[in-house]
This record gives sequence, C-alpha cells and structure tokens, in this order.
Amino acid sequence: MELVVEVKDLSIYYFTLSGVVKAVERVSFNIQRGEWLTFVGESGSGKSTVAYGIINLVPSPGKIVGGQALFEGKDLVKLPKEKLKELRGKEISMVFQDPMTSLDPLRKVGDQIVEVMIEHGIDEKEAWKKAKELLKSVNIPEDRLYYYPHQLSGGQRQRIIISTAMAFRPKLLIADEPTTALDVIVQDSIMDLLNEMKQEGTSIFFITHDISLAVERSDRMGIMYAGKLVEIGKVDQLIENPLHPYTSALFASMPDLWVDKEISAIPGFPPDLRTPPPGCRFHPRCSVFRERKDLKGICDKEEPKMVEVEKEHFVACHLYG
Ligand SMILES: Nc1ncnc2c1ncn2[C@@H]1O[C@H](COP(=O)(O)OP(=O)(O)O)[C@@H](O)[C@H]1O
Ligand SMILES: [Mg+2]
Repeated sequence: MELVVEVKDLSIYYFTLSGVVKAVERVSFNIQRGEWLTFVGESGSGKSTVAYGIINLVPSPGKIVGGQALFEGKDLVKLPKEKLKELRGKEISMVFQDPMTSLDPLRKVGDQIVEVMIEHGIDEKEAWKKAKELLKSVNIPEDRLYYYPHQLSGGQRQRIIISTAMAFRPKLLIADEPTTALDVIVQDSIMDLLNEMKQEGTSIFFITHDISLAVERSDRMGIMYAGKLVEIGKVDQLIENPLHPYTSALFASMPDLWVDKEISAIPGFPPDLRTPPPGCRFHPRCSVFRERKDLKGICDKEEPKMVEVEKEHFVACHLYG
C-alpha cells in the first residue's frame, strides 16, 4: 500500500469580520496510489475547504491553523510557494464545478491547452498535434480548438479540462463537484473519464453532495458534517453498515439510493461554524442523543475521537469505542 496523500489533523479557519469560521476541524485521512476517495456532505460542511487545504491553496480570509497535508511524504503546508506551484501544475491537477474558472474567457481554447503543454516541455508543433488528439479522445471536434470557451457547452469545457489534466498523468486529481452543473448523460461521460485516469494510476479525491454519484465509482467514501469528518470507510461498508447517526440520516434522506424506502429529511439545520456546538457537532440534531438520557453530558460535552470499528471503517461518535 502506497500512500499518495496523508492528511493529519488538518484545521482550517476563515477569519471574517463577523467572526472565525471553523470550516475544517482536525480532519485526518489518506489516499492510496490509484485509489478513488469521495467526500460527501451537505453544502457548507467544509468539503471544498479540505480540497483547497490539501494543496495549500485556501483562499483568503482562510488559513490553515493546524495539521499537515502530506503529498508523497512532503508537507505541502510547509512547502515554499514556488515548489507548490510546480507540483500543482504537474503532479496534482484540480477540476472545479465551473470549468470557466479554469479557462481564460478571452483566449481560444486551443491556445490555452497548447500553452499548458509548452509549460510541460512539449514543443509547439507537437503540442497542437497532441491538443487535437486530446479533443478527439473525448469526442469533441478538433475545430473547437479555435473556439472561445463561451462558445462551448459546459460539458465540453469540463471534458477538455479533464482530458488536458489526463495528458500529464498527474499523481493526484482533485475534482470538486465537477459534474454538478451538467446534465446526467454528460455527467456520466465525465465520471468515465475520471475512471480512466484512475485505471492509469492517478489517485482521485472527488467531492460531491450527491451520494449516488459517490457510491457508483469510489473505493472509499468519507462523510463530512459541519467541518468534521465523521465517518470514513469502503463504500460497501458505509452503505451496508452506516455507523454514525448522521450517515444513516443522510442516506435515509437520499431518494435515489433506496427507492422503496421512505425518505426522511434530517430535522434542524447545520450549525453556524462561527459557533459550532460543543462536543459532537451533530448532537443537537441527533435522534439517538435525543432518545438516550445516558448520553447527556457526553455527546454535548466531549468531542468524539475517530475509532476503527471494523477494518478500515472509522467513525467519530460516542456510540463506539
Ligand atoms: N471565503 C470564505 N470566507 C468565509 N467563510 C467561508 C469562505 N469560504 C467558505 N466559508 C465557510 O466555510 C464553511 C465550509 O465551506 P465549504 O468548504 O465551501 O463547504 P462545502 O464545499 O462543503 O459546501 C462554510 O461555513 C462556509 O460558509
Ligand atoms: Mg464546495
């Protein structure tokens, strides 16, 4: 087992005028070579902040306030800016929800792809040839190289960005809701592309709020709630044996997963991360805590630690360990 990413006790806060947002609190996990790990969680649970954190690219007013993010053993939290930039272009690629954020709207798509290739040491003539092959490989007519980004569909833009990333065989691809803005068929083609990358040995860190997407393709899945990683394990383990009351509640609220099952929304709202609840951040919404008097003074006071309940299946909940 070879670890590409090791995140240890990573904490990230946003220092805003109205207070300190504790967006990510002591999150630890790792990703193996060629493994696909997906983080799932409601909007605002800290998924994107984790993604930015592991490549040390947290936007202001955010700051990594603790922990480590190791990439092949190097702590990116401590790496000098130039070294980081080098890694991010070559060994680590990122794909975001809106592909327009990765493309310059004022320049033709081909010029942009070729520029990236030249930066990677490919000469210009060869780069144009490769760019044409790239588009062909994702079923986009090669004359689109001479189009501006806005003249392409969202799906085409996203396929171009992912195929360009693929061309350099990064060791790690971070994909933050890359298919959220796309229709289902295009979504599938993007997931296929990511899967091809995985087959070639790239580790994938995928983020979604759509559990059915996570279940289909990932090896392992992590569940985030209010800035905390509350459960992580193999997809089958989580589906068959969800441990955290939040995981169970989240799955029960998903219509696509269990068609026959009665869908139940989770009562209440996620907390304001400037003032997260003490103890387990989920306790104010937890049905188990509500029903069991013996948990008073525990879940609402003490922060639960991650424990391994079955092999590779971890949970942070006072009901275990
Ligand atoms: N630039 C920012 N300034 C202040 N707070 C932010 C900023 N970006 C994100 N946050 C806050 O951090 C928390 C986590 O956000 P985010 O990582 O974007 O969650 P997710 O990706 O799961 O939707 C939220 O409470 C969000 O409001
Ligand atoms: Mg996000």
